[in-house]
Amino acid sequence: MILPVVAYGDPVLKKEAEEITKDYPDLQKLIADMFETMYEAAGVGLAAPQIGKSIRLFVVDGSPFAEEEDEEEDPRAVGIEDFKQVFINPIIEEEFGEEWCFKEGCLSIPKVREEVYRKEKVRITYYDENWNFKDEIFDGYAARIIQHEYDHIEGVLFTDHLSAIKKKLISKKLQNISKGEVSVDYRMKFPAAKKGR
Ligand code: NI
Repeated sequence: MILPVVAYGDPVLKKEAEEITKDYPDLQKLIADMFETMYEAAGVGLAAPQIGKSIRLFVVDGSPFAEEEDEEEDPRAVGIEDFKQVFINPIIEEEFGEEWCFKEGCLSIPKVREEVYRKEKVRITYYDENWNFKDEIFDGYAARIIQHEYDHIEGVLFTDHLSAIKKKLISKKLQNISKGEVSVDYRMKFPAAKKGR
């Protein structure tokens, strides 16, 4: 089932999300719905707050990066075609390596892409969809997707990383998004939309 993606301005996107337990109701169905919603919107990651649930869960599929980027020329894309995963109760234990810049986008902030600096590697502990505990290191685009999605469950958006000037430059766009004044080809829920929209 495709779920509406919550747009910029909704308070759920600014909240630190809560851990879940193994008996969280209909977890497998929720995970399946999140993948379906992400694919429908052509995203590479989706965090639970983006579908209105303030829980520490996100899904990723980095394979579009493999089509977009030439692996031979871009070592950051190596292995990305197999990066399809579920992260439950994740904790980024460490971020290391050089900072690098990438133009990020977000399904909750359509039509906005801005350069964000992040470190190139992350060590993350989490549970997969079968509640197997994992402790892994990711780099390149995989690390980038994880950092972006992890921010979501901490109540942080990529726009929060921008300079004051950049933020000011896009503030009108962001306001319009929260009012639903943006054209998107996937289902969204706009916090400041006028009734009847
Ligand atoms: Ni996002």
